[in-house]
Amino acid sequence: MKIYVPRDAAALGVGADQTAEGLVAEARRRGIAVELIRNGSRGLLWLEPLVEVDVGGTRMAYGPVQSEDVAGLFDADFTSGKPHALSHGVTAEIPYLKRQERLTFARVGITDPRSLEDYKEHGGYRGLAAALAQKPADIIAGVTASGLRGRGGAAFPAGIKWKTVLGTPGTQKYIVCNADEGDSGTFSDRMLMEGDPFVLIEGMTIAGLATGATQGYIYLRWEYPQAKAALEAAITAAAAAGYLGRNIQDSGKAFELEVRMGAGAYICGEETSLLESLEGKRGQVRFKPPLPAIEGLWGKPTVIGNVITFASVPIIMDRGGEFYQHFGMGRSRGTLPMQLAGNIKQGGLVEIAFGMTLRELLYDFGGGSFSGRPIRAVQVGGPLGAYHPESQFDTPLDYEAFAAIKGMLGHGGIVAFDDSVDMAAQARYAMEFCAIESCGKCTPCRIGSTRGVEVIDRLIAGENAAKQEAILRDLCETLTYGSLCALGGLTPYPVISALNHFPQDFVKPVRASSAAG
Ligand SMILES: Cc1cc2nc3c(=O)[nH]c(=O)nc-3n(C[C@H](O)[C@H](O)[C@H](O)COP(=O)(O)O)c2cc1C
Ligand code: SF4
Repeated sequence: MKIYVPRDAAALGVGADQTAEGLVAEARRRGIAVELIRNGSRGLLWLEPLVEVDVGGTRMAYGPVQSEDVAGLFDADFTSGKPHALSHGVTAEIPYLKRQERLTFARVGITDPRSLEDYKEHGGYRGLAAALAQKPADIIAGVTASGLRGRGGAAFPAGIKWKTVLGTPGTQKYIVCNADEGDSGTFSDRMLMEGDPFVLIEGMTIAGLATGATQGYIYLRWEYPQAKAALEAAITAAAAAGYLGRNIQDSGKAFELEVRMGAGAYICGEETSLLESLEGKRGQVRFKPPLPAIEGLWGKPTVIGNVITFASVPIIMDRGGEFYQHFGMGRSRGTLPMQLAGNIKQGGLVEIAFGMTLRELLYDFGGGSFSGRPIRAVQVGGPLGAYHPESQFDTPLDYEAFAAIKGMLGHGGIVAFDDSVDMAAQARYAMEFCAIESCGKCTPCRIGSTRGVEVIDRLIAGENAAKQEAILRDLCETLTYGSLCALGGLTPYPVISALNHFPQDFVKPVRASSAAG
């Protein structure tokens, strides 16, 4: 009897450990032999802790299961898949999951993240096998043909980056995984590292083979201790089985991998700050050029990529670039794991091909707001993403379509707000975030963000509002064009979108009447 209870941090946060302990104790009391598997999360976060039982090879879902529900589940004979108030039927048939196109997350929630055998039984390391049979340039040609663009935010084509590193001479090259995942409302990197760490290791190893890099680092935010444990266990298992080390699968090729913990700063997710931090210095943005692909970690050619970018590579190697690029729309090829958060009924992870509209995601998957009130605004793409009003909900999830409405898809984070939101407060928050997180290297961001908060305060207070608005817009233009990196450069997105789409929130009725008086 196999029972699955996630070890994912989101599940642990709502009592998954207690549920697991309760299940084992109750089974023992009743003399039922069970094998408990701590899997990753299926991504249906409102149902966590989601318990699954294997009934004749089919997994049945129950959730959210708290420890006090356990005895009742046994009474209802849930181990035979029998109905119960918490039953959701066959897991794979739950519409939220069934409608997804899981390529990168194909194994998350299904396999045991600590088992290399389970990984291989579910198609793991087939991508590496294919890569080992190819020349570096051919591996890169496959990645280029897939149309894969970086999933960390900037959506730069992965193949071009890899090609630059391959073509740059160097005695030592590096692969660095950006696992800082600082964007608000995002958790796909974490879910993947906790739920299927081997796929990230495999993707980075392929990147090493393709570029000639023999050393990799995963720069992980310190707030992710479960991901650290999962990665370190997987690295040890992969090394023991010859999938990492000096002679990968007797190919004569080397690739070693280590996890490094960040100390917690949003700017350390920016790639050049991350490299500074990895080198043991204060996380501050570097001037570009030189690009990290030419002079990266310790001045050596370096591929730096997001977790999801690397984790998408094994399936591309296994199934071919053509297979992957078949998904998506326009120049956005493949799938993007969207993360639904904020005021949303069914928050969680939705991996789908580019092209679905924001509205479909919010309502067909998300089920509307958690509060039951109308969704008024949605911030897409993290704290530097724009706030979108209802009139833009029919925009397809595509990098270019969002750029055309002065927004960005970024890392796929979606934060929903109902009609009780105060968008002037959100604009202030966005500007203050920049002031707090600024690395201080350039003047528009370091000084401009602090002045920006003051201007927004005066605007909201109604002190000569027209003039304050003009100053704010002018300041945002300076931030856009004068900042050294995208923290200062993109902060105007949330600020100006709030001002443009929700101008009424910046004029409070009290002030309007006092102005009239
Ligand atoms: C302020 C700031 C924060 C960022 N944070 C992250 C992050 O947490 N994770 C990430 O993968 N990329 C982040 N990025 C983007 C990285 O600079 C870089 O583009 C990315 O790591 C490249 O990987 P990719 O090509 O696979 O997307 C951030 C960028 C900026 C400007
Ligand atoms: S924009 Fe801000 S975070 Fe980026 S380099 Fe300038 S001061 Fe640093």
